Amino acid sequence: MLTISAIKADIGSVGGHTCPSPRMVEEARAALRDAVARGLLVDFAVTYTGDDVCLLMTHRNGSGHPDVHNLAWDVFKRCTEIARSEGLYAAGQDLLKDAPSGNVRGAGPGSAEITFDERAPERRAEAFLVFTADKCGPGAFNFSLWAVFTSPLYNGGLMLPAMKKGFKFRIIDMEHAHGDRVVDLVSPEEHVDLAILLRDENRFGIQSIHSRLHPGQQVVAVSTDRLHTIAGEYKGKDDPVAIVRTQGVFPAPEEAVSPFVVAPYVAGGARGSHTMPLMPVPINTPVTGPYCLPLVACVAYSVSHEGKLSPGVDVFGNPVWDHVRLKAQEKGEWMRQQGFVGAAMLPMTELEYSAFRRSLTELEGRFRDLG
Ligand code: 13P
Ligand code: MG
Ligand code: MG
Repeated sequence: MLTISAIKADIGSVGGHTCPSPRMVEEARAALRDAVARGLLVDFAVTYTGDDVCLLMTHRNGSGHPDVHNLAWDVFKRCTEIARSEGLYAAGQDLLKDAPSGNVRGAGPGSAEITFDERAPERRAEAFLVFTADKCGPGAFNFSLWAVFTSPLYNGGLMLPAMKKGFKFRIIDMEHAHGDRVVDLVSPEEHVDLAILLRDENRFGIQSIHSRLHPGQQVVAVSTDRLHTIAGEYKGKDDPVAIVRTQGVFPAPEEAVSPFVVAPYVAGGARGSHTMPLMPVPINTPVTGPYCLPLVACVAYSVSHEGKLSPGVDVFGNPVWDHVRLKAQEKGEWMRQQGFVGAAMLPMTELEYSAFRRSLTELEGRFRDLG
């Protein structure tokens, strides 16, 4: 069995929440190179999206293995020290606990992992995409993944025998603070039930998707932690990472990315408090635009039976995505022309986790009941 782990955290950034420093990224690469030399990992890639560093690792230890999670935590700690020494903004922001209990889930970083039989006859070759988002919440992939895995309008491949049987979705209640609260629903029969839950991207997120034709095959993993559910208050946006396996019995890459053409409005943007479009960007893009638009990058990889990664292909770096970037910027402007009012900002229940809560509480105290 082979495991792909993508573990991601915001641990400090240059000049505000733009991107990690070159020394931080170099440190992460050196530490993972060392882990390959020790035999803990087979291969790795380090990228960033906005101010989030993503460690992509292949190994033989299975999903959720303490050695791999502790390694990721140590790497983030070392990068945090560099961020501190360089005087960077929000050093160690996502490291919410002193130490993880063998798994970074619940401690701040986001993790998405898939373990599979690399020699299964239905998977002659292994291709996958890694989506990394910044300035948005873990429900940011709800629309896109629902569309890819339930709607032939976005994915004509769903009509093929290999995918017609549908998929099993595990949906997690992200507001539930103590342990995982989940429900399993299947497409195509329950695609409307999926829609009923997934429309609320602040509460419900997709944790995993499995094939129904090959039930042992997990096709999608998404990090679904909410930092405020861990910390009890706003600690930055949750900025999810997702792994999506592609080709053959799974969607093709062009099908998996097609809903991103919509630049859907998601929860995020400035102070994590707005409803703004998700802009596809090249990998290793700093956040510098007005409004702090939610961003998503996507890198395509192949992995050999031995676990060796190919060089990544920067999917959203291609100029065909330029018009979507312009559309996202325009959609952002349309929304923010109305400033803070109505749909432009997130519902009060979301803002209550942020420092806006204190401003609200002050005003609550000034209300008078006139009977
Ligand atoms: P990050 O979690 O990426 O630091 O987002 C901060 C924010 O809310 C931007 O205004
Ligand atoms: Mg940040
Ligand atoms: Mg971030």
